[in-house]
Amino acid sequence: MRSVRDATAVVRAGLGDPGQEAPFLPGPVFAGPYRHGGDPAGARYTYGRYANPTWSAYEAALEELEGGPCLVYASGMAAVSAVLFSMLRPGDTVVLPSDGYFTARVLAEGQLARSGVRVRLAPTAGGAQRDVLGGARLLWLESPANPGLDVCDIADLAAAAHAAGALVAVDNTTATVLGQRPLALGADFSVASDTKALTGHGDLVLGHVAVADPALATGLATWRTQVGAIAGPMETWLAHRSLATLDVRLRRQCGTALTLAAALRDHPAVRACRYPGLPEDPAHRTASRQMAHFGPVVGFTLADRDAAERWLAALRVVLPATSFGAVHTTAERRGRWGGDDVDPGFVRLSVGVEDPDDLLEDVLGALDRA
Ligand SMILES: Cc1ncc(COP(=O)(O)O)c(C=O)c1O
Repeated sequence: MRSVRDATAVVRAGLGDPGQEAPFLPGPVFAGPYRHGGDPAGARYTYGRYANPTWSAYEAALEELEGGPCLVYASGMAAVSAVLFSMLRPGDTVVLPSDGYFTARVLAEGQLARSGVRVRLAPTAGGAQRDVLGGARLLWLESPANPGLDVCDIADLAAAAHAAGALVAVDNTTATVLGQRPLALGADFSVASDTKALTGHGDLVLGHVAVADPALATGLATWRTQVGAIAGPMETWLAHRSLATLDVRLRRQCGTALTLAAALRDHPAVRACRYPGLPEDPAHRTASRQMAHFGPVVGFTLADRDAAERWLAALRVVLPATSFGAVHTTAERRGRWGGDDVDPGFVRLSVGVEDPDDLLEDVLGALDRA
């Protein structure tokens, strides 16, 4: 349990008590080898692929926020891979969401399945993954799921998985740790792409895993050292610096996301709009129970592929781009990648921190112009 509230916790996370004349956040440490002679047993910093003080500071910050020991990785996918490949053995079964981030699914069905791990898929909505848990070693949840934004009851599914003898991982990228705390909800692993809202400036690629049981960190650390999927000190430092504004950014992003979602829902050109914060959204009841913020991502469907492309071309403030969670509002027709089972007119809108009225005028104006 933290002694301060979220907005304070993110500003101070991982900083300790700076010494006299010391910076609050020391600069990045760039090192291959560290000066170290003699027996390496028990030494913390010997070589840059094993450990780095800039990682340690960021990991300490995330540990305070997540509520369990944390490891930083080169990307969200490196973090996902660390859990999947270090925890699963040939003959094990993993249950994944059929509607989660598609590269995680592709990785599991390709590389992981080739190493002898059985992969089962079921949708996020309605907790359908529970029905295929029998004999599984790992349940992988993503809530809200990207890009469809369905939500599952994490505490409920974690209890069912543990009763069935499975570990539980939650990809918490869309919500961030201030939006939802997977470890407190019963997950064993909280995984995120820090590329997205957690760091929120669209200027780095990074990921992390936090664990409920410190013993689970050992395999994850060994995987990182041996595979070499390590974070750069500069990216890690930028991420730590960016954490301080997480609460401020999320409040603005989620407030504007709700405004835009309500306006899109009511527009005659919009066939469907999904945002867990909308009271009538199918995900709202469960999301309200387990989330403190509903996230910066809104999904909506226009008539067809051309209507969505015309809308994107008519935007003046919102930038056409993939990814989500940054301070810049961006949008894309998700079907252009081909990895998700989405309507050709489905748009993923990531809401930034610009003036809410400018965004509203742009999003609605582009619908009229298109
Ligand atoms: C939900 C989710 N998890 C993981 C990832 C992978 O993160 P990264 O691109 O940092 O490797 C993404 C990327 O879009 C994502 O949306």
